[in-house]
Amino acid sequence: MDNEICKVIQNKELTKGKGIYEMVLQSEKIADAAMPGQFIHIRINAGYYPLLRRPISIHSVDKTKGTVSVIYHIKGQGTEELSRVKTDTAMDVMGPLGNGFPLLGNKKCAVVGGGIGTAPLLELAKNLSECDAYLGFRDCVYKIEAFEESCKSVHIATEDGSVGYKGYIIELLEQNIADYEVVYTCGPKVMMKCVVDICRKNKVECYVSIEERMGCGIGACLVCACKVQEENGEWHYKKACKDGPVFHAKEVVFDA
Ligand SMILES: Cc1cc2nc3c(=O)[nH]c(=O)nc-3n(C[C@H](O)[C@H](O)[C@H](O)COP(=O)(O)OP(=O)(O)OC[C@H]3O[C@@H](n4cnc5c(N)ncnc54)[C@H](O)[C@@H]3O)c2cc1C
Ligand code: FES
Repeated sequence: MDNEICKVIQNKELTKGKGIYEMVLQSEKIADAAMPGQFIHIRINAGYYPLLRRPISIHSVDKTKGTVSVIYHIKGQGTEELSRVKTDTAMDVMGPLGNGFPLLGNKKCAVVGGGIGTAPLLELAKNLSECDAYLGFRDCVYKIEAFEESCKSVHIATEDGSVGYKGYIIELLEQNIADYEVVYTCGPKVMMKCVVDICRKNKVECYVSIEERMGCGIGACLVCACKVQEENGEWHYKKACKDGPVFHAKEVVFDA
């Protein structure tokens, strides 16, 4: 996989003081090839730290304009430096990487995201013919209008009750689970484990996008090895960067 130098079209904070940013990059090549659920691997700067690229999910693609957008949360030095990148800067980006979500838009679908895990679900929703969104946040919401444009209905929960239902998004999903044949989820492990349990109990197919720490991003270093389970109960390791980040729920071992 070649890297590409992409111009930053926009890099702005979405939530005042909460450290959630959206970056839009110009890349006809990545925009053209991108599938929902894939990620890009960004070199933060030309220096020695951070040495490793940082993986960020593709949030939205505009194939006509040749742009790709990502939403990121400031976690450490890499994402903090990313937040200070100015418009017109040339960024070194690899992608699109990973497998992406299987598109089962002929079935009744729901996308279920928590916090920054809502980001990759927008491009997925845009590519399903019809789906409902379940979006959970702690205390601030973002990109709701974009989901409203692409989904049949949008359910919102916040832990502090500032927007939508006060509580966890899985409570809303559980009430409506009988409406769905397929659920796609991305977010904190504890939330995704609950989503998988709800789907399993109700015999609903489920796909999970997992976040493992990554090195190379292309299957060469094994940093992202994650435990997966086979039908017969045996388990082995797969590479989250190449075999994932999306897995069928029955493969995922959450307590690994
Ligand atoms: C496939 C994939 C897609 C991702 N998509 C997004 C996205 O759309 N938006 C977004 O904000 N983040 C996303 N992430 C997570 C993002 O890559 C990390 O937050 C980022 O690399 C942290 O870099 P940093 O230098 O700021 O922090 P670091 O200094 O590297 O780490 C700061 C803290 O974050 C923890 N951390 C770092 N990476 C991860 C990880 N992968 N999983 C869990 N904890 C981690 C570290 O343990 C540490 O506690 C994704 C990760 C993967 C693997
Ligand atoms: S990050 Fe190197 S093998 Fe997955």
